[in-house]
Amino acid sequence: MADTATTLLTEALHDLEATADETALEAWRVAYLGRSGRLTALLRGLGALPAEERKAAGAAANETKGRLEEAFAARSQTVREAALAKLSGVAIDVTLPGRPLALGRYHPTTQIVREICGIFERMGFSVVEGPEVEWDYYNFEALNIPKDHPARDMWDTIWVSPEGPRAEKPMLMRTHTSPMQVRIMEGAEPPIRVIVPGRVYRYEATDATHESSFYQIEGLAVDEGIGLADLKGTLYEFARQMFGEERKVRFRCDYFPFVEPGVDMSIDCFNCNGKGCRTCKNSGWIEILGAGMVHPDVLRRAGYDPERYTGFAFGMGPERVAMLRYGIDDIRLFYSNDLRFLRQF
Ligand code: FA5
Repeated sequence: MADTATTLLTEALHDLEATADETALEAWRVAYLGRSGRLTALLRGLGALPAEERKAAGAAANETKGRLEEAFAARSQTVREAALAKLSGVAIDVTLPGRPLALGRYHPTTQIVREICGIFERMGFSVVEGPEVEWDYYNFEALNIPKDHPARDMWDTIWVSPEGPRAEKPMLMRTHTSPMQVRIMEGAEPPIRVIVPGRVYRYEATDATHESSFYQIEGLAVDEGIGLADLKGTLYEFARQMFGEERKVRFRCDYFPFVEPGVDMSIDCFNCNGKGCRTCKNSGWIEILGAGMVHPDVLRRAGYDPERYTGFAFGMGPERVAMLRYGIDDIRLFYSNDLRFLRQF
């Protein structure tokens, strides 16, 4: 026999001593105790020995096998314990609680837009969206604001076409959501009840209640027999659901070329309770929307007979609504990306 039991035992124990991890231990097990390992070869060789030697050699081989198995089990235990000690003591404290995942939330404008849309949806309106880059035709001309008309001065416009308003078919960042009135009427038959939330853009200086990019929510209802009382009733109900019974609502005459008559609606200032402060520019009121009865020329341009159909429209500023609702005294906070502000909603 090439390998005597004693040499094998000495060498195996020596090699086992050098194993420091699970991989080395497994390699050792395969080399000595595995099916093609040295101990198996020793046991297989017993059959070839002369009968008188076989008994003693067999006993020695079996003892070696027992000792190697015992030593392997002990070494495995030592290696495993050393690995665990390293994990818990130095590299990672496995007993620490996990880190919570940071959860995002909706921007306050998104929250208020959804809430406003929800109120109108429960009154039977559907939600529609439209393009932010708009033709001059829909933003102005179709709304009774022809080229060079002084009414254009009411909107500070950001032109997209390089020649500005002088282009053959001028384009702009829409200054309001009202262009959707005509787009919707062109593509549908009365009765119509829609609201259009979306972003609008104006080239204007900012202050506590004015941003240059902000949201509007347009409302449009067209049918036979719709009157100003329907407009007021709908908007009062909106104000009641949004602000509660206690806030005061004010309607005043206002001028918009695409409605006749035109009104604006304000809510008494949350900050000073109507006494006058910086937020309401000392007026005691914060205007939240412009509205009116759709002008007969606008109905006609969209292909409707104004003798048969009438309608109301409104355009509301959701940031202003959120300001009143949550007591925010400066609109610029919405878009300054200050997490201390945003996390409050
Ligand atoms: C309009 O934009 C009209 N299209 C509204 C309208 C629709 C009238 C349908 C009649 C029929 P106005 O420019 O007033 O009107 O804006 C409407 C609302 O948008 C204002 O009441 C206000 O709440 C909000 N708003 C206007 N300008 C700003 C601004 N710079 N920053 C924030 N909100 C604004």
